[in-house]
Amino acid sequence: MFITFEGPEGSGKSSQLPALAEFLETLGYKVVRTREPGGTKIGDQIREVLVRMENAELHPRTEILLFLAARAQLVEELIIPSLEEGKVVLCDRYGDSTLAYQGYGHGLDLDRLRSMLQFATAGLKPDLTILLDVDVLTGLKRKKAKDEWNRLDAFELSFHERVRNGYHELAAEEPERWRIVDASESAECVQSEIRKLVLQTLENKSV
Ligand code: TYD
Repeated sequence: MFITFEGPEGSGKSSQLPALAEFLETLGYKVVRTREPGGTKIGDQIREVLVRMENAELHPRTEILLFLAARAQLVEELIIPSLEEGKVVLCDRYGDSTLAYQGYGHGLDLDRLRSMLQFATAGLKPDLTILLDVDVLTGLKRKKAKDEWNRLDAFELSFHERVRNGYHELAAEEPERWRIVDASESAECVQSEIRKLVLQTLENKSV
């Protein structure tokens, strides 16, 4: 079972995922948790280039290729082998981040991005994608408060608004894959909602 988590900045993915992984493990599931960009030795090196504040001149096309390169490595090295072993893979961001950020955010052609994604992921799609939805200002404030500011957060507000709206469009296009969780609620509420949705999907898959 392949589950991805998406959302605008500061939606709380990085704190919700470990708690979910622990919960699933107590139920006896074998869980692999990873994140993008990164998640492999090569991917983490690519991540460094992408998030560094001083890399301001990174061209949008270069940026996409780096995200996709990190993803291709992650799919081959970790995600596919883990799924083959019957594990539950929880991934913090995946292909939908490219559509939301590079497509809706930077205005790159969505159809072209989709075919590049198909190449990079060898066609692997998540079984479930949870959108942790939070309004842009709240999310950015949370991130700044945690001192996790990076090159990508520094884009103007309208960029982040386009990203958030893009996520909603993507979710509306494939409602059977996406679930939306209101991430402005307390961390406990968000976690229990996520657990409910994930259990539903795991139960549906096993029947
Ligand atoms: P990160 O610090 O991991 O942010 P977050 O905790 O919000 O996931 O930085 C990842 C950044 O990269 C984030 O701003 C989203 C962006 N991103 C893209 O623009 N395209 C992509 O394909 C991916 C995977 C991430």
